[in-house]
Amino acid sequence: MLELPKYVTIKEVGPRDGLQNEPNEVLTQDKIAWINKLSEAGYPYIEFSSFVHPKWIPQLKDAKEVAASIERKPGITYAALVPNMKGLEGALETNVDEVSVFMSASDTHNKKNINKTIEETYPVLREVVNEAKQAGKSVRGYLSTVFGCPYEGKIPVDQVIKVSKHLLDMGIDELSLGDTIGVANPKQVDDVLEILKKELSFDDIAMHFHNTRGMALANVLVSLNHGITTFDGSLGGLGGCPYAKGASGNLATDDLVHMLHQMNIETGLDEAKLEEAAVFIQSKLEKLLPSHQMQVLNKGGGVSDV
Ligand code: HMG
Ligand code: MG
Repeated sequence: MLELPKYVTIKEVGPRDGLQNEPNEVLTQDKIAWINKLSEAGYPYIEFSSFVHPKWIPQLKDAKEVAASIERKPGITYAALVPNMKGLEGALETNVDEVSVFMSASDTHNKKNINKTIEETYPVLREVVNEAKQAGKSVRGYLSTVFGCPYEGKIPVDQVIKVSKHLLDMGIDELSLGDTIGVANPKQVDDVLEILKKELSFDDIAMHFHNTRGMALANVLVSLNHGITTFDGSLGGLGGCPYAKGASGNLATDDLVHMLHQMNIETGLDEAKLEEAAVFIQSKLEKLLPSHQMQVLNKGGGVSDV
């Protein structure tokens, strides 16, 4: 028998994780308009951009302008990714609500993504977490390549536990476990969570799935059954990781919301408003979005077709 929660928290990472991997440029004004539409859809949390090096991620070089012009809706946490102190300084100039630090469970991906080994990354992130807390901000941590690394293959669970504990020990408020390249399968998620739940409190754990091989929703179901109730999603299934070859879109928020609502699990999100926001960004990207919901819509179907 499945153990399902009554309510699931969905954190929208599309404006960051989605757009960071799009080859087509999205105008700053369109990003702002899109985030404003997302704010109307009922999210508790929107990751609006990242303060990383513009040479590494040119798509998000306008993070400051975006932050300055979005209409902040009370009750929504507006967050941004920061890799180091320089990123934090930029983020703090924008009055961000929360910052997210990030690193990988595998050394090679960590190096390709943020140009440091795992050991070199700890002190950098520790300082960021301390300074962000001093500035009164909450801090999220992402751990990438939890279920597999494009360079190193499967990652031992002990390594995941070790790096997770380092991050939690820094004082982060939540840890999001990333299947960065979408290789996790439901049995693997079940096995890994079974081990992790003996080591970490799941109250502070979120899951961040990518849907490269179509297993993200199945992985959500397994995670729900383990008592995890916070998931990251990217509207329309946009996304990927530029430093993880082959990574495709994130778990699509619209597909996740639809599945949960069909199972009578509340999310606080309005499916019609999500559709409106997805249609908007699809028109700006000039490509069809990959989520199942958008495929149905693009073929003339409706969100509630059964
Ligand atoms: P680096 O070259 O090692 O940086 O890059 P550095 O500290 O040696 O500094 C070199 C120059 O960069 C200096 O400028 C710094 O000021 C500047 P110079 O003095 O030469 O003129 N610099 C910066 N500029 C702007 N913003 C900054 C910044 N830091 C230094 N924050 C760095 C290191 C981390 C900056 C670089 O590797 C980087 O920007 N990486 C970002 C990679 C990224 O954004 N990846 C995608 C996000 S992670 C992800 O998608 C996974 C996730 O979704 C979870 C999952 O799916 O698993 C979160
Ligand atoms: Mg990601």
